[in-house]
Amino acid sequence: MNKLYYALSPQYIARQTLLRNNLNSKVKIFDYLIDKGYTYLDEGRHRVCFLSPNKNWVVKLARDFSGACANASERYAYSKKESRNILARCKLLNSDILVMEYVEYIEYSELPSWAGNIDCYQVGRNRKGEIVAYDYGG
Ligand SMILES: Nc1ncnc2c1ncn2[C@@H]1O[C@H](COP(=O)(O)OP(=O)(O)O)[C@@H](O)[C@H]1O
Ligand SMILES: [Mg+2]
Repeated sequence: MNKLYYALSPQYIARQTLLRNNLNSKVKIFDYLIDKGYTYLDEGRHRVCFLSPNKNWVVKLARDFSGACANASERYAYSKKESRNILARCKLLNSDILVMEYVEYIEYSELPSWAGNIDCYQVGRNRKGEIVAYDYGG
């Protein structure tokens, strides 16, 4: 990739942020995932997300303690059978790393009524066509 373009890319900025905050073990995970063909997807306040090479899975890497809490509470919420049908499938590898099914963006007009209960309407469509929440750790 062109060096200047890389320097301005969100991936580069995310990596620099981890470095600046001295999160060296997380920089290692970041580099490992990129090396394995994962691509940088996006990030929020608490987690940096990567897409698996087959585009089915998202790896959510906690930036800080709040990220680890969000990971744990997402996994806990998913473990409860009652709400599982509106939550993206996930499993915890360790407190810093949550693996979640990938969901696609949906139009505002497609949002179900319950989406108003999810912070910032963070819902999308999974591979089965179901509409599920992907950021429900709050
Ligand atoms: N399962 C997912 N499928 C698709 N994109 C996702 C998924 N999980 C997270 N993302 C993307 O990564 C961004 C950050 O993840 P999010 O769960 O919102 O983290 P945070 O808790 O830091 O806000 C999201 O805004 C979204 O763009
Ligand atoms: Mg979010």
